[in-house]
Amino acid sequence: MLNFTFHNPTRIHFGEEQIQAIRDEIPKDARVLVTYGGGSIKQNGVYQQVSDALAEHSWFEFSGIEPNPRYETLMAALEVIERHQIDYLLAVGGGSVIDGSKFIAAAALFEGDDPWDIIIKRKPVAQALPLGAVLTLPATGSESNTGGVITRAGNKLSFASPLVRPLFAVLDPKVTLTLSDRQISNGVVDAFVHTMEQYLTVPVNGKVQDRFSEGLLLTLIEEGPKALAAETRDDLEVRSNIMWAASLALNGLIGAGVPQDWATHMIGHEMTGAYGVDHARSLSIVLPAVMKERREQKREKLLQYAERVWDIRQGSESERIDQAIANTEDFFRRMAVPVRLSEVDLGSSDIDTLVENLEKHRMLALGENRDIDLSVSRQILQTAL
Ligand code: NZQ
Ligand code: ZN
Repeated sequence: MLNFTFHNPTRIHFGEEQIQAIRDEIPKDARVLVTYGGGSIKQNGVYQQVSDALAEHSWFEFSGIEPNPRYETLMAALEVIERHQIDYLLAVGGGSVIDGSKFIAAAALFEGDDPWDIIIKRKPVAQALPLGAVLTLPATGSESNTGGVITRAGNKLSFASPLVRPLFAVLDPKVTLTLSDRQISNGVVDAFVHTMEQYLTVPVNGKVQDRFSEGLLLTLIEEGPKALAAETRDDLEVRSNIMWAASLALNGLIGAGVPQDWATHMIGHEMTGAYGVDHARSLSIVLPAVMKERREQKREKLLQYAERVWDIRQGSESERIDQAIANTEDFFRRMAVPVRLSEVDLGSSDIDTLVENLEKHRMLALGENRDIDLSVSRQILQTAL
């Protein structure tokens, strides 16, 4: 196992009716900005619950944070913050709203020319407004991690700081019942791939991390399709298990002390940045190709994955790996997400653009061994055709 420091101080309030917990989480004298997206929270009652819980607070709102949040949108929040002397943010939504609010939290107190430098120049976040989150879409883990992904002019790039980690997060599985099938699928698949990025690497004898990861993968494989099936669609037990699995998949726990890959995400981000492919749908296309292209480098973990997650025990090593990859694709298909570039209307002529953008974004040495250079990324994309 590798050395690590693990510290996740986000207080989680999990379960039905927990939105009211924000009443006591946010200091009474705070001036709060509630940030949200395109309005789903107004249709499903979440806005009302938040507004009831904040009845004794001074609060304002900023809406319109779009999926794959854009820098320009987020910068518009700074004027609202200044005008109302906001000193606390409450993000209400999915990963995009929470990521966007993390950037707003850092940008509001940034002491430089342009907060974009936090991302493009990796300027460290020296201070940030305190942030809480009400999660409405289980997927990213953003509600209790330090990262955010922001888009500017087709450049989809990430940043991270412990100062933007939400102080608390409310996870009420009931609010996920209004998600569309597409967003349910996206969430389950994103969480699955987060787990794989931290699991399917090289063995370092991290027994606990491996078994936690396998537990999350098994849970997502078991529960994901149930959230799409008519008879179990509204089952809160199913939604609870998905919501908690997605959060644990990227709250730092399973990645502590083990190598991490993230090549699938970095390549996928270019598909979203250049062509607007949903985040999870970029991952479901790239991951199987990464598994195929890196089967030698990942051989031991692929075999462990085959046995422990898919119960594949028969056949040669190569056959077992093939079967594990086929099962992964089959699971993605059951979750109704694409597994080939052609399914999102991308072809070989688009690979040049994607590879150029990887180069522009300095994604030159990806993967747990930093050995996925541009030529390997190109090969992965070709395999995904
Ligand atoms: O904007 P509203 O109206 O709220 O609608 C949203 C949005 O259109 C809707 N939605 C959310 N909760 C709902 C709901 N609709 C009905 N009922 C509900 N309860 O869903 C749509 C998608 O929301 P979004 O926040 O974009 O989805 P997701 O949570 O999948 O977030 C994706 C973003 O997170 C980033 C991605 O790159 C992408 O920008 N990621 C963040 C990570 C992190 N911070 O650690 C890691 C991930 O790998 C990922 O990169
Ligand atoms: Zn992701």
